[in-house]
This record gives sequence, structure tokens and C-alpha cells, in this order.
Amino acid sequence: MLRLSLPHLDETAIAAAADVLRSGMLVHGVQGNNFEAELQQWLGVKHAVLVSSGTAALHLALVALDIGAGDAVLVPDFTFPATANVVLLAGATPVLVDVDPRSYCLTPAALEAAIQAWRGPQRLRAVMPVHEFGHPVDMAAVRSIAQRHGLKMIEDAACAIGAREAGAFTGTRGDIGCFSLHPRKTLTTGEGGILTTNDDALAQRLRRLRSHGMERGPAGMAFHEAGFNYRLTDFQAAIGRTQLPHLAGWIEARRELARRYREALTPLERAGHLSLPADHAGHSWQTFMVLLADGVDRAAIIRALAERGIEANLGAQCVSAQPPFAAHAPAGGSPNAHRLFRQGLALPFCEQYGAAEVAQVAAALAAVLEPAHAR
Ligand SMILES: Cc1ncc(COP(=O)(O)O)c(C=O)c1O
Repeated sequence: MLRLSLPHLDETAIAAAADVLRSGMLVHGVQGNNFEAELQQWLGVKHAVLVSSGTAALHLALVALDIGAGDAVLVPDFTFPATANVVLLAGATPVLVDVDPRSYCLTPAALEAAIQAWRGPQRLRAVMPVHEFGHPVDMAAVRSIAQRHGLKMIEDAACAIGAREAGAFTGTRGDIGCFSLHPRKTLTTGEGGILTTNDDALAQRLRRLRSHGMERGPAGMAFHEAGFNYRLTDFQAAIGRTQLPHLAGWIEARRELARRYREALTPLERAGHLSLPADHAGHSWQTFMVLLADGVDRAAIIRALAERGIEANLGAQCVSAQPPFAAHAPAGGSPNAHRLFRQGLALPFCEQYGAAEVAQVAAALAAVLEPAHAR
């Protein structure tokens, strides 16, 4: 089976994890501290704070910015539901905003319209732009809207480590950036997450909150506030450290793979069977999702591809179509998010794949979308 993606773990990563396991020092320590320093340098940020998942990162970001009951947070309606789940878990209200049908991301115009339309009673406090699948959101435009309305910016860059826009990495230009280290992501430690910020006080609070609200001082441990246990283990950090030197090369390989896919699938786009995702020079291509034409039965296509040894799946969810968010559907609906949820098709994609895999997928897709090809 050609899998949707493969984690990139070589013998060096396995040996690094084994060394930490043999040392008996398993919780966040030397490896975690070194990984944080290396991430700070790689991303060009003052602080990188490791946590146990991308969801933990998003949750901590809200808590550290004191966002909770009585507050509202703007979230795109097409994303992995974790982005909106954490808003509910923090006690705040998600305000869902439709996305662009080609970049799959929040647009500044839709954001401004949602802010203008919001009538409360909760107070708008923050926006969480999602760099969906690695496509960078226009952060300068989002920043100017956020500043005008006094909103904090929490970037959900869970899928977008290494994506670039206007000369900076995504996840480094908001008040807080959040990344995931889940196995479907380009850099993985099994599970894991990263928070970034350039604010010293915020970083100190994030570090404290990830570890029971505790800080160590000359007098020992002091528990300053109620916190979580959202720490990453040191053997996971050791794995991440072996991957980071390869990350830039892996992203370049993904850009090349996306280029190959575009070329191979253009005939199917011209024939009206699907549309290709928007291109962007700074895209980091965590996922390559095409949009099947209305009327194409996606479940049948996924089954037919599986019969040909190819794994495919939906891309992400329409949040307002999920039961916990039924009461939060945008007033004008979100037709793009619904369509992307219904007809999006994620194809096998990772830096280990090349021309042969693209040719296999393109031929299979042509066969199942244009049955005449099958003969
Ligand atoms: C956009 C987005 N946000 C948040 C998350 C949650 O990350 P994690 O699985 O590391 O908790 C994901 C994971 O797929 C994601 O795609």
C-alpha cells in the first residue's frame, strides 16, 4: 500500500532515542533544552517551548493569554477540529470564518467581515489563523486587522513548520505560534508540539504552565498557578534533534513533489474532474489535497484507489459541521469549508516519495475519474 505519508525516522533518530532511554532520564531535560535552543535558532525566534502535542500548544497559548469565559476567538471553519476544540476547552466561544477555496486558509477580507458582523455578548479577544497544510496566511494583513481591533494573534502552524511568507517563517509573527510534531507532520517526535514567542514574560508563563504551574528557584519548587502536565519527553526531543538538520532539505523535496503532482494532475483539472490547491513559493506542503468536482463520489474514489494499492483520505474538517460546534455555524454559512470537507482528497505525500509515486497516483486517479482510461 502506498501510504498517505511516512514518518522520517532513520537509525540516527532511533539510536538517539535509545541513548536517552538507557540513561534513565526520561522527562524534559538536557535534550529538551537543547532542542528548544536549536528550534529558536532555526526559526529565528526568541523562545521555543516544547509541549506534548500541537493541541497542548494551542490550549496553552489561550490560557497564557488569559482567554476564557466571556471571550470569543476567530477560527477558520476548515481545519483539524483541535484548533476550535481548545477554544471551547478554555471556556471561550469560537467564531468560525469561511476559508478561501484554493488556499484553504482564512482570508483577511473574511476575517474583517466576521469581526464587523460579530454582535457578542462575548468579547472578541484573538484570531487563530491556520496555515492550512503549509500554505502561509498573509500575516501582515491579518496583523493590521488584529491591531485595529485589539486582538491577539495565535498562529496555528501545526502543519506549517518551515513555510515562509514575506521573509519570515510562519508561526513566528503572531503573539504566539503553535506547531505539531505528530507523525503526519514533516518534523515528528511521535507526538509533540512547539510554542514560539518573542515575548519573555509570555515564554516564562508558557514554561510554567506546561509543568504544573511550577518554577524551580533557590528555595526549591514553587507552584505559582494551576498548570498542566504538557511536557514532551526527553527521548522524543532527542528524535527531533536528529531531524532538524534535514528539515530544510525535506521541505525542498516536498516543493518538488508538489510541482510534479501539479504537472501530472493538470489534465484532470482541465477535464473538470478536480481542482488543484493554490501554489505559493513559501508553501511547506505538509499535505497535498485536491478538490474533487461536485458530484464525484469521494468515498467511492477512496475505495477504488485503495483497490489499486493507494491510500487517500479526506483533508480536514468543516468545524461547524461537527456536533460540538453546531451552535457556532457562521450566520451566512461557510460554503467553501463545507465543500472542502465533502470533496477534498488528500493524496500520498512525503519527501520520501518522488516521480514514480506521483506517476502511480496520477494514473490511478485518471483511471478512477475517467473510467475510459481503465481499459
Ligand atoms: C491545523 C491543525 N491544528 C492542530 C492540530 C493538532 O496537533 P496535534 O495532533 O499535535 O495535537 C493539527 C493536527 O493534525 C492540525 O492539523
